[in-house]
Parts: sequence; structure tokens; C-alpha cells
Amino acid sequence: MSYAVEIEKRKTFAIISHPDAGKTTLTEKFLLFGGAIQTAGAVKSNKITKSATSDFMEIEKQRGISVATSVMGFDYKGVKINLLDTPGHKDFSEDTYRTLTAVDSVIVVVDCVKGVETQTERLMEVCRMRKTPVIVFINKMDREGQDPFDLLDELEEKLKINVRPLSWPISIGSTFKGVYNLYNKGLYLFQANKTGIEKDQIEIKDLSDPVLDQQIGKFSTQLRQDVELIEGVYEPFDREEYLSGNLAPVFFGSAINNFGIKELLETFIEIAPPPASRETNKRTVLSSENNFSGFVFKIHANLDARHRDRIAFLRVCSGRFERNKFYHHVRLDKKLRFSSPVNFLAQDKSIVEEAYAGDVIGLYDTGNFKIGDTLTEGENVMFKGIPSFSPEIFKELVNMDPMKSKQLEKGINQLTDEGVAQLFTQQPGNRKIVGTVGELQFEVIQYRLLHEYGASCSFHPQNLYKACWIDSEDKKALQDFVSLRSYNIAKDKDDRWVFLADSQWMLSRVMEGAPKITFSFLSEHNNDAN
Ligand code: G4P
Repeated sequence: MSYAVEIEKRKTFAIISHPDAGKTTLTEKFLLFGGAIQTAGAVKSNKITKSATSDFMEIEKQRGISVATSVMGFDYKGVKINLLDTPGHKDFSEDTYRTLTAVDSVIVVVDCVKGVETQTERLMEVCRMRKTPVIVFINKMDREGQDPFDLLDELEEKLKINVRPLSWPISIGSTFKGVYNLYNKGLYLFQANKTGIEKDQIEIKDLSDPVLDQQIGKFSTQLRQDVELIEGVYEPFDREEYLSGNLAPVFFGSAINNFGIKELLETFIEIAPPPASRETNKRTVLSSENNFSGFVFKIHANLDARHRDRIAFLRVCSGRFERNKFYHHVRLDKKLRFSSPVNFLAQDKSIVEEAYAGDVIGLYDTGNFKIGDTLTEGENVMFKGIPSFSPEIFKELVNMDPMKSKQLEKGINQLTDEGVAQLFTQQPGNRKIVGTVGELQFEVIQYRLLHEYGASCSFHPQNLYKACWIDSEDKKALQDFVSLRSYNIAKDKDDRWVFLADSQWMLSRVMEGAPKITFSFLSEHNNDAN
């Protein structure tokens, strides 16, 4: 039997944005449309707000919320939509990068007042690298924002992608009238509406239709001019270009007012890709293959201190996953079965009997999984492309209780398996350098080491600029480099050489002096079978 019908109706995506652009609000409106929640306000923001004196329980609680809302599944018009949540706080952006490896497309939310912000640019780099299809939603049109043409130019310039508006705003801010849908030639009139379902569109034959003048009065002239300009400047929308990650369709609306959401969702289900095929170290795995395969892209500690297990989030890449069936853990060369795999529906978790390519399931884990691990029905392949970026902040881990060094070792290894931070070990002396993208991680690690492993530690800041994974086809040259620069050399958890650069200047100088060595700011989780 083929699972093609099940698989084809799945769309797995993530919403990304700079904090405050409206990701949570948009998520909530999507869930309302999907009937997964009944009232606005049901989706809690997973933003981690850090007060001057950090309240660790608050961080933990908020991390708990982000587990609950990690994957939100809902149905809309016969399509099974899996929306993967991404942490809002920039200190957790590594988590977001990894989540982006588990989706087939992305919706980028941009605030029309602030335009494209830094976090969005960085997340977009990951999408570009993976050629992920992207739709842009320009939000908060009820506010006095920037000129829409300027916004389109900014999108192209900062996100480095071609854009094509599929809807067009009629005025903005206090005089915002609505949008004209360039794709199906309909008019949507704006009405502030924080809770209800938006109104249907008003059909118009074409832009010369007098209905337009009746509905939007003097704004019709500007709209006609704008649309003429758009049709002259931009090529017609080409879905293939969108699917290959070269062209981003753009929509305008106001998430809080439930405006523009329905047309966004309806276009999304029409054009967004079904589960894509994925590369492994040996071959391309098609989502339509009957044999099950999947990979772990996120691991989350159980918040209940009485249960030390964790939840590994697995993206099903092909075939069908079944509860209680034995699967092959490729890295460990071990058979594992799962008696209580869960899926996520809005904020509820429930046991699943089966899951198909495109779905994300949670597997209770007692320490078998690392990020990037692959499960199959027996084949020895490993999925590729789960990135690890150079951390930005480095600190040495110092043991404060010599009686608990084993606990500390175990704790830091498990926490870094979860992807909370990266661990680099320097010899001699087994010096441990922890690297993260944000300060908040160190507080989380210190807290969790103490509370979950009984190990107390402190962190000593290191004046380091970047970690570069180094390699060379000339193994002797690599070995010589490692010996010569031993003071700045470490190994990562996958036993790969890393050069820890003190400064950009120093790195450029070292790179110039070592032409046979390749330096990379990015590494892939490499859990190859031994
Ligand atoms: P995020 O997840 O991307 O961080 O953003 P979130 O949805 O939490 O939205 C950030 C703020 O922007 C919220 O206001 C939200 O109500 C507001 N917002 C979202 N969409 C729109 C919109 O279309 N128009 C306007 N004017 N505001 C919008 P807040 O004051 O921070 O929170 P709240 O008290 O409203 O929840």
C-alpha cells in the first residue's frame, strides 16, 4: 500500500520573525481558522523575558510553554497543517535554526513600521541556504508604517530574495481601507476585528469596476496607479520560482485585527509544498517512499523533576511511523521501539498510533538521542544538513565541587546533546569551553546542572571571537596546524577539530598563513554510524 495520499495532504511549516512583529498573534489566528482553539488569547507567547534579577522558575515555566506549543497540528479544508513553533528570544536562535531544518516552507512576518529587522535577516540566511520556500506577511497595517513599495525594496535588499506582491494595501495606518488581492482579483475591506472571523471578499471584475469607487472612494485612484506599476515592474507570480526558494510572494494585513489572515492561509494551502525529499549521507530519500525514516531536530528536557526523561522531536521524512514497532537507531546501531509517542494538537499532547512523512512526533527518551540522529526501518543512512553555527559567547566551565565531577561531566554532556549550547574540549587538562549564542543560556545551564544533576559550576568568560571548524585534504598539513596552534585548538563533541579565534584580525592573519586549511563557521551535526 502506498501512503502517497496521506503524505500529499501535509504541509509542515514555521512562522519566523523578529520578536514583536506578530508571530504569536498570527499563529493564534491560524489556529482559530483551523478550529484548533476556540478563543483568542489561548496561545501564550513563548517569549522569554529576562528581568534584571533572573527568575529561573519563570524561565523554566516559559520553556515549558514552548514545549507545549512546539508543534501545532490542525486541519484546514482537508489539508493537514503542522506549524512548528520557534523560540522568540534571540538567545535561543540555534533552536530556531534547527527547527527550520524540519519544515518544508516558512512564513516570515515583518512589522510594517519597523521593516526588516536583524533577527529576521539571520533566520532568512538559513532559509536561503536550504532553499526553503518563503511567503512574507507584512503585519500591523493598521499602524502608520512605511510606504509599501519601500518595504518591498527593503525585503529584496535585506532578505536577498526576489519578491512578488500578491495582495496590495489600500492606504495605511488610520486611513487603512483594506487590501486588493492581485492573485484572485478580490477586494477585502478592513474592519478592526480582534476576535471574529474575517469577512468574505468583495468580487470585482477588474480595477475599472465602479464597485471599487463605491467601496473605497478617493483611494481607488491611488490603487489603480499602484497596481499598474506593480504589474509593470514585477513578473507574474511563478509558483516554481517560489518552490525553488527564489521568489517570495508578499501579503499585507493586520494579525491582531484578523485581517488578511484568511487569504494568507488559503494561498498557503494552495501553493506551499508538501513534504519534500531529503538528502542523506548516501542517497536522496523521497517522502513518498513506503519505508519509514526520520530525524531528531530538537530535544527537550522533561520539566517534571521526578521524571528525568526527555522528549526528542522527530520529523518523519518518509513512509509511516507506527507505535510499538521496532526501528533502527542508525548511530547506535540499536533497535528501539516507542510505546507512547505523542503528537501535538494546539496545546494538547496525545498518544499517536501512526504518523506520516511531514509529521512531527515527540518520543520519550532516556538518553538515546542526540540532535541529528536518524531512525529507519533498517537502512544505514543519516540525514544531512542540521547545522551548528559558531557560538558567539564563550566561557570556561569550572567545577565548584570536586566531589561532583562525574555529575558535572554527565550533565554538561547531556545538556549539550540537547543543543542547549556547544561544548569544546581543550587538551591538555580536559578544559571545557561552553559556547552559546546568548548570555541567558549560561544561566539556564548553571541552574539545570545544579537542579537536575546536583553539580555546581561557575563560568569564566573567555575572550574569543568565533569557533571555526577546520579541515584539510592534506592530513599532515592539518596535523601541523593543530600542533602549531594548539593553544587555540579544541575538539567538538563529534571529535572534530575546531580553531578558537581570539579576534577577527587574528583569524584573518591565521587563515592567510594556512592556505591548505579550510575554515568554516558552520558545521553539520554528524552522527554517522560507526
Ligand atoms: P511576536 O510573537 O512576534 O513576538 O509578537 P506578538 O504576536 O506577541 O505581537 C507583539 C505585539 O504586537 C503585541 O502587542 C500584539 O498585540 C501586537 N500586534 C500583533 N499584530 C498586530 C497588528 O496587526 N496591529 C497592531 N497594531 N498590533 C499588533 P503587545 O502590546 O506587546 O501585547 P498584547 O498585550 O497586545 O498581547
